[in-house]
Amino acid sequence: MAAPFPNHPQLRGNFAPINFEAQIQDLVVEGVVPEALSGSLYRNGPNPKYAPTGPYHWFGGDGMVHAFHFNAGRVDYLNRWIQTPKHIAELAEGHSVSRARKPDPETGKLASDNENGLANTHIVWHGNQLLALDEGSKPFELAPMSLESKGYTETGRRLSGAMTAHPKIDPETGELHGFGYMTGYAGSPTMTYHVLDKAGAVIRSDEFEAPYPAMVHDFVITRDYVLFPIFPLTFDMARAAKIGSPFAFDAAKGTHIGVLKRGAPVSEIRWIEGPLCFVFHYQNAWNDGDQITVDTIEFAVAPNFPLVDGTLPSYADAQGKLVRWHINLKNGEVKREPVLDVASEFPRMDERYTGHRYRHGYIAAASTRQRGDKGLFHEITHIDLDSGKTRTWDAGVGNGVSEPVFVPEPEGAAEGVGWLLATVFKSDTNNSELVVLNAAAVNDGPVATVQLDHRIPFGFHGSWRNN
Ligand SMILES: [Fe+2]
Repeated sequence: MAAPFPNHPQLRGNFAPINFEAQIQDLVVEGVVPEALSGSLYRNGPNPKYAPTGPYHWFGGDGMVHAFHFNAGRVDYLNRWIQTPKHIAELAEGHSVSRARKPDPETGKLASDNENGLANTHIVWHGNQLLALDEGSKPFELAPMSLESKGYTETGRRLSGAMTAHPKIDPETGELHGFGYMTGYAGSPTMTYHVLDKAGAVIRSDEFEAPYPAMVHDFVITRDYVLFPIFPLTFDMARAAKIGSPFAFDAAKGTHIGVLKRGAPVSEIRWIEGPLCFVFHYQNAWNDGDQITVDTIEFAVAPNFPLVDGTLPSYADAQGKLVRWHINLKNGEVKREPVLDVASEFPRMDERYTGHRYRHGYIAAASTRQRGDKGLFHEITHIDLDSGKTRTWDAGVGNGVSEPVFVPEPEGAAEGVGWLLATVFKSDTNNSELVVLNAAAVNDGPVATVQLDHRIPFGFHGSWRNN
């Protein structure tokens, strides 16, 4: 008998999981779905099957994928749990299974098991494979139409350690660049830099040493460089007994940005001092010679994680804002330029410009926000980074928008010509919708609203795959 879920802030409201898998043909649509939208939107996020038996964090729920298949204006939907070894064991045993691993009796270290993850953070299409990702594990493959779990990939077995949930696909070469952290064991300062070719074969998977062991969620590439920014959300196993978490924001350790020339050996990584802050996600980056521009959502400290004294960050410090960094590789200086003074997260862009100078960014934002909101972000905002102008669609305070995924109009369209796809949680009716926005006229509101009877719990990331 499945036990009730506890009354936990990250298991209430639209953080709460749904307890079914559904397949729905031909969803009801208000407005008109553009016929040129032909492909699938995938979204991934935590959706625990069973009540946790120990402490719970939003990042720790089993992955569930939601797929919207678009074809000639019609939209079909399905959702599936990812059949990780953990999830399969839970179904067999009828209760939550911990991934906690015992320390090696000889070394005292927690060995990594990179094929024992949650696959709950992102989902990307690369090398003709649909890959569910979490940063502590290797890529996990799903079938693109049925979402049938195929398991950890052969490519992944050739990687040295885990891979980030935020790989970058070079639009010119089709290569996938990724990294891993805490390679070998929890608390290891060893990181990895992975490159896969456009077919998904491993080109390189090289280990290097970070300044300290830390949680590293995302990174950036440019045409000529790869950057590994490391923020002081550090790991210390001994800390867990003192403050209840091995991770804490340790400002004294500072921010360090590893800079590597594309194609150079990892021994040539140069570390420069970065702004003291915390970043989950970057919007994009590019370089003009030895000047690098990075657009990022900056937090004052790591939200949802303790400081070294065990206290949680203040509410104000837990708001991320879009900031541009200007990195001068000649003298190692980093200058910060605030871009948008609105609480924001989940930055996306037209990924045909990944690593290149670009103009248009898209974020989930909350210009009106207070403690206890039922929605995390209620707006989708387009930022024209050349003019600084923004255009916003407001889904209504209390409703919650997901990350907006950009889909270009077919062949030849200029940057930013296309659509944004996002799910919206409606707190009054306790269901979700998928909205299709014209990316060049976000403030006009959805051109199509695709209706679901159920809600999609707050999740993390998603991608589009063209038919
Ligand atoms: Fe992320």
